[in-house]
Amino acid sequence: MKGKAVKFIVLTIFPEMFDPFWEHGMIKRAIERKKIFASTINIRDFTKDKHRVTDDRPYGGGSGMVMKAEPLAGAIRAAQKKAPLAKTVLLTPQGRCFSQNIAHEMASSDGAILVCGRYEGVDERISHHLIDDEMSIGDYVLTGGELGAMIIIDAVTRLVPGTLGSEDSAENDSFSTGLLEHAHYTRPRSFEGNDVPDVLISGNHKEIEKWRLETSLIRTFLKRRDLLEKKSLSPQEIDILKKWCLDIEKIIHDQSLRGSDTSSGTQ
Ligand code: ADE
Repeated sequence: MKGKAVKFIVLTIFPEMFDPFWEHGMIKRAIERKKIFASTINIRDFTKDKHRVTDDRPYGGGSGMVMKAEPLAGAIRAAQKKAPLAKTVLLTPQGRCFSQNIAHEMASSDGAILVCGRYEGVDERISHHLIDDEMSIGDYVLTGGELGAMIIIDAVTRLVPGTLGSEDSAENDSFSTGLLEHAHYTRPRSFEGNDVPDVLISGNHKEIEKWRLETSLIRTFLKRRDLLEKKSLSPQEIDILKKWCLDIEKIIHDQSLRGSDTSSGTQ
């Protein structure tokens, strides 16, 4: 499948952190196949002083250091020249939370210039004037944005058409369907006394699909009920849930009958 490569330019003071990242697995393959274009810019290359300093003390005092505006502005403008259509995104715990939906949007975009903050944060004038979006990868604080940038690139790259081995693999992903993915098994058929469910060996594709949907629904209900509450359910999914309700009601009903049997039996 042809298409324009999604561009990622990472602005960081630690570009070496990305070398092994570009050189393994699906990211490497996507670069080789020109599905993505990936590069780093060293923010330090845009300093003008002898010691190549990228941080300074905060105005107003206090602990921690702040990333200086001038080197960051130089690096961002250089990246924007290389990728004029890409959004400039600052990695920060204050940003909106990265999600599978955002990953899909980015996979069909021109790409992103990912600005990795370090220290306490970046000079506010950078965020105000040169940044299009702020992104967080979760409610915890990292020592810098580099790992966040890798997570975003990884999640987006596998959604770029032609990157995954099989075109439809990403369609059934957890979150893409609004449900967690179904259970998976591979050989051996029996492992430490635990067997693969018979239906998966039956060759009955309709039954296998139904079983997968059921395991998907039950996992989502048990592990991420919030997802199930948000999802707009298909008629088939509603039928499955209704059947569970009836099954559970029957178990409770039978129990209550048994309970009265037992109490009458002990009297
Ligand atoms: N930099 C530090 N913490 C971060 C987070 N949670 N997400 C993105 N960038 C960060």
